[in-house]
Amino acid sequence: MTDTTSSQIDHLFNEDRRFAPSDAFAADAVATKELYAEAEADREAFWAEQARALHWHKPFTEVLDWSTPPFAKWFDDGELNVAYNCLDRHVEAGNGDRVALLWEGEPGDERKVTYAELTDEVKRLANVLGDLGIGHGDRVAIYMPMIPEAIAAMLAVARIGAIHSVVFGGFSADSLRSRIDDAGAKLVITADGGYRKGKVSPLKPAVDMALADRNGSGVQETVEHVLVVQRGKNAVEWTEGRDVWWHDVVPQASGEHEAQPFPAENPLFILYTSGTTGKPKGILHTSGGYLTQAAFTHKVVHDIHPETDVFWCTADIGWVTGHSYVTYGPLANGTTQVLYEGTPDTPHPGRWWELVEKYGVTILYTAPTAIRSFMKLGRAIPKKFDLSSLRLLGSVGEPINPEAWMWYRKIIGGKTTPIVDTWWQTETGAMMISALPGVTETKPGSAQVPLPGIAIDVVDEDGTHVGNGNGGLLVITKPWPSMLRGIWGDPERFVETYWEKFQKQGYYFAGDGARLDDDGDVWFLGRVDDVMNVSGHRLSTTEIESALVANEAVAEAAVVGASDETTGQAVAAFVIIKQSYLAANSPDGLAQTLRLWVGEQIGPIARPRDVYIVEELPKTRSGKIMRRLLRDVAEGREVGDTTTLADTAVMSVISAQVR
Ligand code: WT7
Repeated sequence: MTDTTSSQIDHLFNEDRRFAPSDAFAADAVATKELYAEAEADREAFWAEQARALHWHKPFTEVLDWSTPPFAKWFDDGELNVAYNCLDRHVEAGNGDRVALLWEGEPGDERKVTYAELTDEVKRLANVLGDLGIGHGDRVAIYMPMIPEAIAAMLAVARIGAIHSVVFGGFSADSLRSRIDDAGAKLVITADGGYRKGKVSPLKPAVDMALADRNGSGVQETVEHVLVVQRGKNAVEWTEGRDVWWHDVVPQASGEHEAQPFPAENPLFILYTSGTTGKPKGILHTSGGYLTQAAFTHKVVHDIHPETDVFWCTADIGWVTGHSYVTYGPLANGTTQVLYEGTPDTPHPGRWWELVEKYGVTILYTAPTAIRSFMKLGRAIPKKFDLSSLRLLGSVGEPINPEAWMWYRKIIGGKTTPIVDTWWQTETGAMMISALPGVTETKPGSAQVPLPGIAIDVVDEDGTHVGNGNGGLLVITKPWPSMLRGIWGDPERFVETYWEKFQKQGYYFAGDGARLDDDGDVWFLGRVDDVMNVSGHRLSTTEIESALVANEAVAEAAVVGASDETTGQAVAAFVIIKQSYLAANSPDGLAQTLRLWVGEQIGPIARPRDVYIVEELPKTRSGKIMRRLLRDVAEGREVGDTTTLADTAVMSVISAQVR
């Protein structure tokens, strides 16, 4: 268990509020309690049944091959096309006129894209990708704003059996470059820019920077083309022969494209996420198992009635939530969904609620950090809008504190909507732990129970079940369909990071602390490794430390996640500055420079909230930085046990410098 959390735990477990679904909700709910019994009776048969809800060009006969753990194969002899499942089959079933995307740009422009239109666009784009030399197994980087073309890009790559690597548009040119290199991408799909906070935020210039100056870097350029959507109309430079405008090729391309089947284990995407080292991990997901679990969980946890619901997941496609619950889950289920380009507070702080009213959103899926920032702004803002269309709310990305849960239900959900708190990870591909709306009595603050077909436990360091009322480490005890299949190019790190700790038992180690309450419900306590969770986004302390020491003024740096009222955790950096720079600059100036520096190196989300300039860092005799003590300082607590420090006086010096 992490030391930040142990002090916050006790009050949580006195939670005795329970919210049963209304009879009306329960009567219409997609999920039933029989799902648990079915999965319990025969887990593999249960998943096979869910998989058969998809269209298989060649039906599978094998369900799970776990003969060489931790490398799983699901539905291995089956063949399918992921994009066909998300598009063509709905059109063929007569639902081509159903709206897939209710898109709203930040400036207020709108586009409604039907399933027939999206299918047509994806077919054309698939042909263009072929013309650009992209085929089965090639990697394509996608660096785009939240516009319909971004979804089309993912699906077109999937359609031809290539592999996408979506890089969040808020990441820097450097971050983009390292991801392009790691995956060996042949094509980058981007836009000139997209709207954020009232102005155009450029993207193509970052791609140009990422691809420039390879000379002497020792890195072989793999990118042959850059395909560019015109969105922001900002000025962009053009490299003839490499760069291609989307509007010059996609509308002109043939609309004929027959989806070919690919094996169930064909790679679908790589998505980079932070780990405990400086180098992001390329999490690899494949096709059949991933789509099965993304679609199934979306349907039962979000209670999707495709004919009537308007779903809105606010995540960016740059994160796994955007992959599974904007692109793949909702489209596989033929859902109508809202897609919004911009930030929640532009041009006014009620923007999200205005969209809920305008589009009649029935299901909203968002992150606790957003809920807490709305809470801070006050109920008067959402109260100005008619939110009565909402019938179900979801939460994801970090633990939701009971206070925010109650506010969400009362102010946004009109005191009636069920709330599902869904726990999962980039690595799990889809939801793992959540209430089933209409079935489970919900409990503010707890993610509650594993979904049907999912097996988890909370164990101690030896892998022994801790029992109700106790805390420990969250593990997944049986393989699941949407599990990661590896880390791109690094099978050893895959085994080491997730499977070595509980090798004897064969458990997957999630890196989260958790506690079972007296009912056996799961409460998450935060990460137990050097990974922070800022606004529901995963950041690595080591990665930010490396960025800091890459600045010429910095001698040494230590980064911790300090608890923050709105963002869950915030980045706090303790930095030792080189003497020559100390003399020439003010500490405030240095701190500000370093904040911006980290933003440029990694992306604005990684920018430290606090940069403390200190003379020393607390280290053990073996030289390991004691982050626990720095966290005490950053959170304004009395500093804990310092007896293992090499120099016990160092903490009083640091505390004095920080105040
Ligand atoms: C980490 C995964 C899941 C998609 C978004 C984040 C934390 C996620 C919850 C939740 C408590 C949660 C965990 C997890 N987390 N959802 N409902 N309750 N903690 O994906 O970047 O891969 O981060 O987010 O710490 O390990 P990610």
